[in-house]
Amino acid sequence: MPIRLVALRQPPPPVMDALSGFEIDVIADPSADWRVTNPDDVRGLINFAGALGPEILDRFPALEIISHMGVGYDGVDVDAVRARRITMTHTRDVLNADVANFAFLMLLAASREFVRQDTHVRSGAWERGQTPLTWSIEGQTVGIVGLGRIGRNLAAKLAAFNVTVLYHGRSQQTVPYEYCPDLVDMAARCRALVLLVPGGASTDHLVSADVLNALGPDGGLVNVARGSVVDQDALITALQSGALGWAALDVFANEPHVPQVLRDMPNVLLSPHAASATVETRSAMFDLVAQNLISYFETGKALTPIPEP
Ligand code: NAP
Ligand code: 8YV
Repeated sequence: MPIRLVALRQPPPPVMDALSGFEIDVIADPSADWRVTNPDDVRGLINFAGALGPEILDRFPALEIISHMGVGYDGVDVDAVRARRITMTHTRDVLNADVANFAFLMLLAASREFVRQDTHVRSGAWERGQTPLTWSIEGQTVGIVGLGRIGRNLAAKLAAFNVTVLYHGRSQQTVPYEYCPDLVDMAARCRALVLLVPGGASTDHLVSADVLNALGPDGGLVNVARGSVVDQDALITALQSGALGWAALDVFANEPHVPQVLRDMPNVLLSPHAASATVETRSAMFDLVAQNLISYFETGKALTPIPEP
């Protein structure tokens, strides 16, 4: 009898192919009414849905493992997973370079106003004159909020552009960058903040009105972490009043819904949660989703379990 798995949302073909030795029930829309036959036999979940709580976990009393697509798992009720002693895995490390590259792209695109330059040419406005001067990233100070796997990858790249890197987190690390225990103080010293902390309760609205005001009219925010990390209403207010200069956002409070006011602002760059979305990185993430399940059922050990015991 093949081992039974349930997939929350349809996994892409590479995942289905790699797991062809398993019996997989696919729940295309986990928010709709659904049930599977013999739920007591299901031993693993493949989570492409993001959110995952007791209302789903409780349906599967024999669940042993959840293989989650993505490094961030703030949508999963980890306490419920731990209470059931279920193994949970995520797709860490394989996306570090591309997510850091995307954060860097957003920073550079903001500094050189790249979208505006493109529009200027397309619209024919160039025939009436040049765009205003922009600002250089060279020699600036950038604060990384969350100097983890992705944050350290980004910091190394920023150093090649002669950027002074500061960082904020819960603890000081042995790294060649200055640690700032106070986020408002760090923001006041930076031209830009790049957010790379996990989402969830401990970072909810970590970037408050005070942090945004400290960044100031020339400063800006790059968010490739989670929308919940920023007080989005305070961000809109700060951008509208000019207290904050600009923002480059890949993540939002209520995805995929983005307030019209943000969409209308010329000093805001927008991206649809696409920082890891390259063929190469997504392929590595898909592979890890599948290999975690294969390894667990063959050896009893998953490859990349989440850090929580
Ligand atoms: P990581 O290695 O765990 O790093 C997270 C960092 O955040 C650590 O340096 C940690 O340092 C700090 N941190 C954790 N909780 C904090 C808190 N409450 N206050 C302040 N700092 C805190 O994670 P990663 O692999 O780099 O990924 C970071 C996050 O990026 C993910 O969780 C995900 O949400 C996001 N992400 C987004 C995309 C996208 O497509 N936009 C793609 C990949 C990842 P301390 O422990 O010292 O506090
Ligand atoms: C993915 C992400 O876009 O890894 C994460 O935490 O946010 C992104 O890499 C997302 O998980 C897609 O499922």
